[in-house]
Amino acid sequence: MNQINKTLNIALPKGRIGDKVYDIFVSAGYGCAGYDGSDRCLVVENRDAGVKYLWVKPADVPVYVERGAADLGVAGKDILLEEAPDTFELLDLGVGVCRLMIAAPRGFRDDTGRTLRVATKYPRIASEYYASLCRDIDIIKLNGSIELAPLTGLSDVILDIVETGTTLRENGLETLDLVFNVSARLIANKAAYRFKNDAITALCGAIKASLAR
Ligand code: PRP
Repeated sequence: MNQINKTLNIALPKGRIGDKVYDIFVSAGYGCAGYDGSDRCLVVENRDAGVKYLWVKPADVPVYVERGAADLGVAGKDILLEEAPDTFELLDLGVGVCRLMIAAPRGFRDDTGRTLRVATKYPRIASEYYASLCRDIDIIKLNGSIELAPLTGLSDVILDIVETGTTLRENGLETLDLVFNVSARLIANKAAYRFKNDAITALCGAIKASLAR
């Protein structure tokens, strides 16, 4: 096998949790010399360690990994539940910790005689969650600023990520139910897990040891 095939291509999420995730790989001995995350280069490599990082939009990580453009990737459990990629989930990295919650304007009371309008970035999760409660819903798919939906009458409730709770508080909303606890997970392409197993096992071992320190 040549050097290119041995290299692990790893899709990392740009943005909010990207730096924390990259720091985990650095602590495990897989950092890239001279790279501090401040430039806009989308590919960085450490040939000696055999890793190449691809910086992608968080929601695109499962696509890269499932299709084999990346051998490994890091994605939030929210994205994994929503996209349900055909990949292996290897490790919980313990960063990007937040909750998927149902929230509504303070004092909201659900009228079960009516279809509930739910605004969310996560239509699959919303559909499965309310199906489990046998509750009829109308899903309103949005791409951001979800908290605005009930304030404008677009929806009754939202299903969204809550981290500090500040956005909810500042917009007069309160949580109703916990849907899922979220954190960043290391995922693997199924074929790569088989054919690059030694390298992946070594990387997982180093990350686990580093997280335990
Ligand atoms: C996320 C989420 C909430 C907010 C929660 O939005 O959708 O709006 O963070 O964080 P908090 O509990 O710490 O306030 P994000 O910042 O990703 O932007 P978005 O509205 O464009 O999705």
